[in-house]
This record gives sequence, structure tokens and C-alpha cells, in this order.
Amino acid sequence: MSRRALILGAKSAIAQALARRLAAEGYDLVLAARQSPQLEPFAADLRLRTQREVRLWEFDALDGARLASLPAQVERECGPFELGVLVFGYLGDQRLAQEEGAELERILHINFTQAALALSYLANYLEKKGEPGGLIAISSVAGDRGRQSNYCYGAAKGALSLFLQGLRNRLAATPVRVLTVKPGFVDTPMTRGLEGLFLVASPEKVADDIVWAYKRKKDILYTPWFWRYIMSVIRNIPERLFKRLKL
Ligand SMILES: NC(=O)c1ccc[n+]([C@@H]2O[C@H](COP(=O)([O-])OP(=O)(O)OC[C@H]3O[C@@H](n4cnc5c(N)ncnc54)[C@H](OP(=O)(O)O)[C@@H]3O)[C@@H](O)[C@H]2O)c1
Repeated sequence: MSRRALILGAKSAIAQALARRLAAEGYDLVLAARQSPQLEPFAADLRLRTQREVRLWEFDALDGARLASLPAQVERECGPFELGVLVFGYLGDQRLAQEEGAELERILHINFTQAALALSYLANYLEKKGEPGGLIAISSVAGDRGRQSNYCYGAAKGALSLFLQGLRNRLAATPVRVLTVKPGFVDTPMTRGLEGLFLVASPEKVADDIVWAYKRKKDILYTPWFWRYIMSVIRNIPERLFKRLKL
């Protein structure tokens, strides 16, 4: 029997690299994104290369009213799915968020509130099915410590990581597993043109790591691997010193 994955935020560079990897692993895909018809050339190429079923789904994470019914609707129109992948995110503008509440709200809303709601509904759907399945969600190393240059985005991702930790705890006795992904800097439209990036990874490397970690039933993935150690150092810098680093 074929397996199916639902990817939320499928236009993202990381999502597309992951979609290719999952299709190669034998998953049929539902690619959910804003203006989803734009994904048709990508979907057609994937169908041709992998012989998998690839469907497109119109999805806006800010459309809160439709989130609750999303899993059942996808099942009704595309068939049951066993893997939910949450990739959408919004870096936003830290400076603007300091000045304007609307930008701060948008950053928190997309990266945390709507992400948590989507994950909650997906978790309930998978738990109710009672079959082996999983959730993969992209958080960020930015959520491991608040820094002046991106603490609004970091706070939302930190909250998301905590939410995922609790969800994993809740589902531990079920066949549904939860993988938290914490990438460092990745070369995608989100980071293009930003200054001060280092050790930048490709979306393909991140996708490879995600599939590797999911297959091995890992709980938390830092990708590439060395970010686990970088963040361990950063988390342990005393606050008194950290304040002076102006990171
Ligand atoms: N790039 C990095 O260095 C990095 C590092 C750590 C974590 N991450 C996380 O990785 C994930 C993927 O990002 P990426 O790097 O691949 O960047 P990306 O290509 O810019 O992808 C972000 C995606 O989120 C989608 N999105 C934003 N708001 C949405 C909404 N309201 N509804 C539906 N989709 C929405 C965007 O859709 P549209 O195309 O329609 O705008 C876009 O496709 C994000 O969660 C990001 O926070 C990225």
C-alpha cells in the first residue's frame, strides 16, 4: 500500500527538496501552498520522475477558519495520509517588528499560533487513525536563544519547539511520532540578501538530514549536525556576557 504525506508550505525551497526525497522514498504527496497552481510544473516533474501521485492543495496558514477541517478534507479528496510536514514560516523584519505591532503580530501568528493550530489538528487526525504515522515540523536554531537581531522570529520558533516537545510527549504512547527540525542557515529565498550568514547549508542537505532523522525515529534534528554543538555553546554563554555580544 502506498504512503501519503501532506506538506504545508510546499512552495518553500526546503519543502520542495523534501518533497523530492519523500517521493523517492515512495510517498504520494499532497503539496499545500498559497497560489498552489504555480506548483504544477514542479508537481508534473515529480510525477514523471517518481511515478508517485502528487496533488496540489490551496492553503493559507492565516486562514484559521479552514485549519480545523483541513485533515478531513484532504483525506476526503486525496485519500488518507500518514505524515504531516509543516514547513511554512515567515522571517519578517525584526526592525519593523520593534516599531510596528502588526509586523510583530504577523511573525508570531504565522510561525507559532497558526503552526501550533495546524499541528494540533494534524496530531488529532493521526492519533485517531491509530496507525503508524508522524509529524515533522521545521522550527529553527533561532528559537534556542533570544538575540537582538531576530528575537521576534526566534521567540515564535522557540515557542513552536516547546509546543512540539509537548506534543511528542503526549503522543509517545501512540504510533505517531514527532520530529522537531532545527536548521541553521539555509540558502533559500528567506535568507537571500541577508548579511552575516555563515555555514550556510543547501535545502537538499537539510532534506536529506530530515529523511534520515525521521526514518531513525529521532526526536530533535539539528541540521547540519554541527548546529547542535554551536547552539549548546550559545545557550550556555552567561546572560551578563551575552548582553555585550550584540548578536
Ligand atoms: N532559510 C533558513 O535559513 C531557515 C533556517 C531555519 C529555519 N527555517 C525555516 O524553514 C522553513 C522553510 O523556509 P525556507 O527557508 O524554505 O524559506 P522559503 O523558501 O522562503 O519558504 C517559506 C515558505 O513559507 C510560506 N508561507 C509563509 N506564510 C505562509 C502562509 N500564511 N500560508 C502558507 N504558506 C506560507 C511561503 O509561501 P509563499 O511562497 O506563498 O510566500 C514560503 O513558501 C520555515 O519555517 C523557516 O522558518 C529556515
